[in-house]
Amino acid sequence: MDENTEVLLTGFRENFGTTGGEVHVFFAPGRVNLIGEHTDYNGGFVLPCSLEYGTWLAIRFNGSDRIRMVSMNYPGPAEIKPRKTFDNYTLSWVNYPLGVLNEFALRSFELPGMELCFYGDIPNDAGLSSSASIEMVTATALNEILLAGLSTMDLIRLCQHAENEFVGMKCGIMDQFAVGTGKKNHALFLNCETLEYKMVPLILKDYALMIINSGKKRELASSGYNQRRSECERAVEIISRHHKINYLGNLKESDLPWVDEILNEEVLRKRVRHVVTENARVLKGVEYLPASEIAGFGRLMSESHKSLKEDYQVSCPELDLLVEMALQAEGVAGSRMTGGGFGGCTVTFVKKDSASPLMNKIKNDYPAKTGLQPEFFTPGTGESVKKIGVFNI
Ligand code: GLA
Repeated sequence: MDENTEVLLTGFRENFGTTGGEVHVFFAPGRVNLIGEHTDYNGGFVLPCSLEYGTWLAIRFNGSDRIRMVSMNYPGPAEIKPRKTFDNYTLSWVNYPLGVLNEFALRSFELPGMELCFYGDIPNDAGLSSSASIEMVTATALNEILLAGLSTMDLIRLCQHAENEFVGMKCGIMDQFAVGTGKKNHALFLNCETLEYKMVPLILKDYALMIINSGKKRELASSGYNQRRSECERAVEIISRHHKINYLGNLKESDLPWVDEILNEEVLRKRVRHVVTENARVLKGVEYLPASEIAGFGRLMSESHKSLKEDYQVSCPELDLLVEMALQAEGVAGSRMTGGGFGGCTVTFVKKDSASPLMNKIKNDYPAKTGLQPEFFTPGTGESVKKIGVFNI
């Protein structure tokens, strides 16, 4: 048994005891987006990869009329009576798995009493998809133990819907897709309009993937995110009066001059410029990866950050500082904020032998300038959501 499953089962025993039936264990990874930010809900391209960090779930039927949930990372427990539809729970983390239970209930699956214990090692609130990870691990477990027969694609959409409607975060489909389809040593190249995708080899050779948590919590994340989304919808509506498009992702860089003329608000011009140029960067970036041309890919990452900062305005001083410090250091191919923004993490490609000097420099200088402690991760890529096994505890 791997170490994380052991930690999880210890937590399960402490909370729910050892009597009862078999315990089913599942795992779902987190993800880091390499490039293609805020393009998913704009029908554009994204290029994330799943991580070896993730969320583990142990689940058991308990023969009672209660669903009990605990997390080894958050306060609890939560106790819920199975229903046809659920209301939001007072503990915010519970709403992610509960939103998924709600989706199963809405599809007329009968939910029996059960016990769920979660354990995760993804830094929370850092833009590494701890939300999609907890949703997808819950959906995959329910699908299996309720013999629901839903496909991976159904589960991806179900989880996105749960987050949009139950949690109220109008996210796109990238995170749930990456968690549902990820493959070790590969990035996911996804067209978010058609959902066609392919796995692209991600061989970094003498580079390392470094994730740095700024320590800045993403406080405005949900409201700022939903606001960006509605700005993009407004731009689509105005542009479509002249030339019908489904999404901003349908535009090319060569369309920008006439689109600029039509849009009468500077803020909308900026949003469109980000989405269109970011899409073009993903298409260039995906050409670099199979040949391990990390230096070329890195340049695109740095351009992406500039665009997210200036045009999409979802960065923050802490993320900008981390990117600036990385770009001034030796051996860095590129660096950018990753995920929704407003705090969270940066992703950087740095030569393996320059990784320690970079960390030391940031450890020294970043806290003095921000009052925050940075955290460093150099994770490997991971597999998609899966069942680990059935255990008698
Ligand atoms: C969050 C959302 C995703 C995506 C990114 C930004 O992670 O959940 O759907 O929009 O932000 O690229």
